[in-house]
Amino acid sequence: MELELESFTLCTLMQLFTNIPFGSTLCLSLAIIIITLVILTTFSSSLFLRWPKIITFFCSCETCQAYLTSGWSKTFDNLCDWYAHLLRNSPTKTIHIHVLRNTITANPDNVEYMLKTRFHNFPKGKTFSTILGDFLGRGIFNVDGESWSFQKKMASLELSKNSIRSFAFEVVKFEIKDRLIPLLVLSKQNDCVLDLQDVFKRFSFDSICRFSFGLDPMCLELSLPISEFAMSFDLASKLSAERAMSVSPLIWKIKRFLNVGSEKKLRKAIKMIDILAREVIRQRRKMGFSSISPHKDDLLSRFMRTITDDTYLKDIIVSFLLAGRDTVASALTSFFWLLAKHPEVESQILLEAEQVIGSDYNKDLTSYEELQQLHYLQAAANESMRLYPPIQFDSKFCLEDDVLPDGTFVKRGTRVTYHPYAMGRLEEIWGSDCFEFRPERWLKEGLFCPQNPFKYPVFQAGIRVCLGKEMALLELKSVALSLLRRFHIELAAPPPHHHHHSTPRFSPGLTATFSCGLRVKVREQGTQQRQHTTQPLHHS
Ligand code: HEM
Repeated sequence: MELELESFTLCTLMQLFTNIPFGSTLCLSLAIIIITLVILTTFSSSLFLRWPKIITFFCSCETCQAYLTSGWSKTFDNLCDWYAHLLRNSPTKTIHIHVLRNTITANPDNVEYMLKTRFHNFPKGKTFSTILGDFLGRGIFNVDGESWSFQKKMASLELSKNSIRSFAFEVVKFEIKDRLIPLLVLSKQNDCVLDLQDVFKRFSFDSICRFSFGLDPMCLELSLPISEFAMSFDLASKLSAERAMSVSPLIWKIKRFLNVGSEKKLRKAIKMIDILAREVIRQRRKMGFSSISPHKDDLLSRFMRTITDDTYLKDIIVSFLLAGRDTVASALTSFFWLLAKHPEVESQILLEAEQVIGSDYNKDLTSYEELQQLHYLQAAANESMRLYPPIQFDSKFCLEDDVLPDGTFVKRGTRVTYHPYAMGRLEEIWGSDCFEFRPERWLKEGLFCPQNPFKYPVFQAGIRVCLGKEMALLELKSVALSLLRRFHIELAAPPPHHHHHSTPRFSPGLTATFSCGLRVKVREQGTQQRQHTTQPLHHS
């Protein structure tokens, strides 16, 4: 047991010092303080009382060792690929990472049980909200119980209005026409390499600000460029996710207490985000409730009429920014990456659009209803997120001991994660061609057929299902259509000192992000693109 405790302490210290430059005197003194803290904690009586909990931090099983030593990275490009491999090979499609006290499942019955049948036994939980608390505060993404019910009710009232679809359609249309297309035209004229992931982040940020807050971020009176805030957002998301990956919360809590390393960076990033969110509130008040939105009741004004606490409002804004910005940008990035690799799918999308909208490539969609007629496009967007879900995994905490439908026992206070990325790669759900990008699997006689949401929980499912699914699909389909009809987008070579990879490499974060961005060259849409060889699609 002593040895095990030693390895825990060492491992903790090793993790503690990542990001802190060794050699400096500051680090040496910090090391002494931290070692003293760890020793003190180790021998404190409260820790002896929690002894059985500590023991679970040590595990010599192959999976836990591969996790602790990052041994998986010798064979797999991404942690999610390793988990997908383990889950595929598990007879129940459920695995345990003991050192994380984490049950991970790709079993649709278990997913339905967690997200619907026993929803109340699988909340986000205190541990999760503490990890994300500094970043997300009491925003909808990070709370359970009454605060969640209240925010969900308010948001649902707004998002379920009939007029919201055409409003969303107009917002997205404006962003594409006035911001996105001019940027790509410029890139084409200059023949430069463009990072589409970055472009999509800006596009989705602007769209969500207009849609949810009735504000154009360009109107914000900020002393810093908006890109600084975007960078802070990325950093806060990445560093908060890293907290969840540490073996013990003690590690990041000590770092936060000492304000060192990644925790120092996180604090700085959160400060920046606070400035942005508070400016959104200030502007919204200044403009009154008659903004660019024709709806007096955009999401933010609805919340502002009921809540007077600016910190709470700020948290709500940050959650909506996170919900609407990173996820959509992530979905667009992988969609365009897949389309660049599958010209046959691109051709089918163009063919269908020609049949519905007409052959004038400068003519855009006229309405939300017209967009709904594009079944192949809908299938391609869903297929893209099957293989590359923007939220690759999502964790809940088990309140009381429970048994999942596949017989897995889940101990109270431990984490249970469902894994859409792995589920998209299961033969049992998608058949033997599950690794292929094949939109046709979603079509029956040319019409889009949705999958059972517990088999495809890309937007989560059950009681806490995503509230912005329609908005997200609207953005995805409109951007794909507008860009593909005007431009031919080619993948560019990776940046210097980076290898060429045939599959994406993801950076750690709350949403899937390509670690090297999506570097492309924008060309004129060539005539060869329009000479479709495929058969016309049949819609009844
Ligand atoms: C492709 C894009 C998107 C994907 C894949 C996605 C996925 C998800 C997922 C997996 C959750 C559950 C998160 C959790 O509880 O841990 C969620 C929740 C949520 N999403 Fe989305 N989302 C997308 C876009 C959007 C957009 C554009 C909006 C806003 C208009 C939005 C608003 C929300 C909100 C408010 C919640 C919280 C729901 C609740 O807790 O009751 N999402 N989304």
